[in-house]
Amino acid sequence: AVQIAVALVGGYLLGSIPFGVIATRMAGVGDVRQIGSGNIGATNVLRTGRRDLALITLLGDGGKGALAVGIAWWLTRMADPLTQAEATALAGGAAFLGHIFPVWLGFKGGRGVATFFGTLLAAAWPAGLLAAATWLLMAFLFRISSLAALVAALLAPAYVWFTGRPMALVVLAGFMTVLIYFRHLDNIRRLAKGQEPRIGAKKA
Ligand code: G3P
Repeated sequence: AVQIAVALVGGYLLGSIPFGVIATRMAGVGDVRQIGSGNIGATNVLRTGRRDLALITLLGDGGKGALAVGIAWWLTRMADPLTQAEATALAGGAAFLGHIFPVWLGFKGGRGVATFFGTLLAAAWPAGLLAAATWLLMAFLFRISSLAALVAALLAPAYVWFTGRPMALVVLAGFMTVLIYFRHLDNIRRLAKGQEPRIGAKKA
């Protein structure tokens, strides 16, 4: 029970660190929430023209999900594999929620894509690699970040399932997929109208 509480609270707090906001503020390029889509993620940080800050945001927002999973995995190293899978799923899910609903930003957080990848790579790496490959392929073909994320997220639960990981991790992936779609409703509307900007375009 103590481990579960640590996994949930620790995961949430880690996940709620908004690397995009911190990186753009510290670099003195203003607040990322004032530009482009107003989103706090790496895709929108890239619209400032600063690739280095976008990379920091991607690695930070992804890394915090991976770290939450890694800590839960380590804390439950004596438990049986199914309990360990459940603990990592809870910690990863909590970190993902922290990114989307961070207490520090009045619960107005990100779209969750980088944190989804970090969490998935740490919790179920073969599925994480397949999802990352899906994102890269879609981004290469269409050059639209949100579209690549929506396709990768849709397939992720199936990837976790087919690579034989415990049901807790399939549920984790499905949970993140549903929230990613929910957080991309405005992107989906823009995609339907053909108005979604391409990766790296300065204006949104
Ligand atoms: O990772 C978020 C991406 O899917 C969309 O971001 O800023 O284009 O709404 P943005």
